[in-house]
Amino acid sequence: MTEGSAYHLPPPRVLDDLVRVGRGTPMGEMLRRYWHPVAKAEDAGSVPRRVRALGEDLILFRDGAGRPGLVHARCCHRGTTLHYGRVEERGIRCCYHGWLFDVEGHCLEQPAEPEGGRQRHRIRQPWYPVEERYGLIFAYMGPPERRTVLPRIRQLEELAEGEFLEVDDTGLGSGGFGTVPCNWMQHFENVMDPYHVPILHGSFSGAQFVAEMAKMPEVTFETTPRGIQSTQLRTLADGRVLRRITEAAVPTLRVVPSPRLGTFGPVEAIGWVLPHDDVSFSILVAGRVHEAGELGRQRSRYNGKMWTELTEAEHQRLPGDWEAQVGQGAITLHSEEHLASSDRGIAMLRRFWKRQADAVARGEDPAGVGVAVLDFAAGNWVN
Ligand code: FES
Ligand SMILES: [Fe+2]
Repeated sequence: MTEGSAYHLPPPRVLDDLVRVGRGTPMGEMLRRYWHPVAKAEDAGSVPRRVRALGEDLILFRDGAGRPGLVHARCCHRGTTLHYGRVEERGIRCCYHGWLFDVEGHCLEQPAEPEGGRQRHRIRQPWYPVEERYGLIFAYMGPPERRTVLPRIRQLEELAEGEFLEVDDTGLGSGGFGTVPCNWMQHFENVMDPYHVPILHGSFSGAQFVAEMAKMPEVTFETTPRGIQSTQLRTLADGRVLRRITEAAVPTLRVVPSPRLGTFGPVEAIGWVLPHDDVSFSILVAGRVHEAGELGRQRSRYNGKMWTELTEAEHQRLPGDWEAQVGQGAITLHSEEHLASSDRGIAMLRRFWKRQADAVARGEDPAGVGVAVLDFAAGNWVN
């Protein structure tokens, strides 16, 4: 009668080495060996902009010469936030005592000091290098001596007639909001979880994508040089076979073709999961589109409403990715999971990411560092 009683549960444990992103943690150090998009390029402007990335509070701005800068939010003088600073021609000026820092953190002025600060050249506001590409600001937050190239992505460089690149930072597939309040790995594992699609998105809440996606696919997983790849086969009503390939790639790339099957061919959008810290993340996407606003318009609608417009009763009746992933808790309790055969993609993903963290801990480079061009297999095809 007492078997399975919740009373007998041991204290829960979390796989800290897998999910935590702070400096000095195994995964945090691994993630810091790659470039991460931290904002849309248009967010770098004349008003200081808060960025929270890998547990660090940063300020993004663009100086008068058009150079984006990313510095620690906390002013190195006496610690107020540069969020209240002013962006000027040569950098960002702290509101408190007016120290002026350029995009690489050099202190250019200390107006309350004699002669504008005789020792100012010894001061450096902590900063990170950034690069602008595909409409996003990428930052390298790792050890400077290990700084690697920001890879190009073939699927974002080869544009067909009439296509252009667009960026989006509003969502989680069904979302329409920015920050998601749970650990990034909960979302990232979902990329290698094709079995939830016909359940959560195909039947439980009605058909959230298109009817074809409601079929349970035949799935294979494989390890690639850059992560894990899944191939999903579905036989369509007309007898043709839909072959859908998705990839999870280091450091946090979700390479997922549109579940709406509007067009067939190589993946049209690349998403990066940006862990703000251990308990929140957002997704930045760059993709090829034919019309402005296309990435945002692909959001699911429920009862004709956007996700953000739903009542709590509708969230319960029509859950989607947000409900399922945030519903796992701020950080899921790994000790209470029961992984089954349909979770083999998740197990492979965890192992691959853990191996890269181990490599970094040994002083080696993790997978894919130094690769100049990424070329993904992901896409939707029929034959
Ligand atoms: S705290 Fe920033 S200049 Fe003093
Ligand atoms: Fe999903």
